[in-house]
Amino acid sequence: MPIAEKLGIIGGSGVYDLPVLTPERETLIRTERGVVNAELGRYSRDDGEELSVVFVARHGAGHSIPPHRINYHANILALKQLGVTCVLGTTAVGSLRERIHPGELVLLDQFLDFTSGRSYTFFDGGPEGVQHTDMTYPYDESMRHILIDVAEACDLQLRPRGTYVCTEGPRFETAAEIEMFAKLGGDVVGMTNVPEVVLANEMGLKYAAISLVTNYGAGLSDSPLTHEEVQEAMEQNQAQIGQVMSGLITRLAETGGEGLGR
Ligand code: HPA
Repeated sequence: MPIAEKLGIIGGSGVYDLPVLTPERETLIRTERGVVNAELGRYSRDDGEELSVVFVARHGAGHSIPPHRINYHANILALKQLGVTCVLGTTAVGSLRERIHPGELVLLDQFLDFTSGRSYTFFDGGPEGVQHTDMTYPYDESMRHILIDVAEACDLQLRPRGTYVCTEGPRFETAAEIEMFAKLGGDVVGMTNVPEVVLANEMGLKYAAISLVTNYGAGLSDSPLTHEEVQEAMEQNQAQIGQVMSGLITRLAETGGEGLGR
């Protein structure tokens, strides 16, 4: 079956870290909303068909852009311009619940938005007119099911669903905020998935997100939170995320993307 899909990955490390991919080149993509550095790679099937994969580092080179200043619009537009059809976002999160432990992987299926003052849409009036995008199920269900399968096939433990609370950051939360988010139905907390998932939906991209729990939310553990702790946990668990990415790439390539978008 020919491969109709092109995969975009927004997250940490890139093409060079995944042995299933042949790196092609790094390129600067100019969009209406800014310039994005993208790494391109491909997975070659035995019959010569290829799946193209594009990596974008969400926080820029060297993790230099804080969550509230990320150019989410440019990242999504760059992927769209490159012909990407489905996107996997990877994120670090804190746990809002004692039963969700650091080191666990969670597939997101809903979000609660507690950001403020970000730019949330491509449809800001003007030539596109007024558009309201359905957000009932912001994360693509077909991608989520493929990811569940992929994790099972490589014996990786993963929580199949979770509600992501997005905060404005860059500060961490208060203990009271963490308690409130849990009461409202949140499972994990992070600072980047809104508006990323919203903009992907507006551009008609299938979007799934896998979160690595790097810590318990503020007040759920005895020690204060540090950025270093989050980064360290992310690095320690990068191999697990790489396994999921490789599994997804292989599955999309070998099936031609069968099962997606249904
Ligand atoms: N809060 C917000 N964002 C995060 C956290 C957290 O505890 N951990 C990783 N990203």
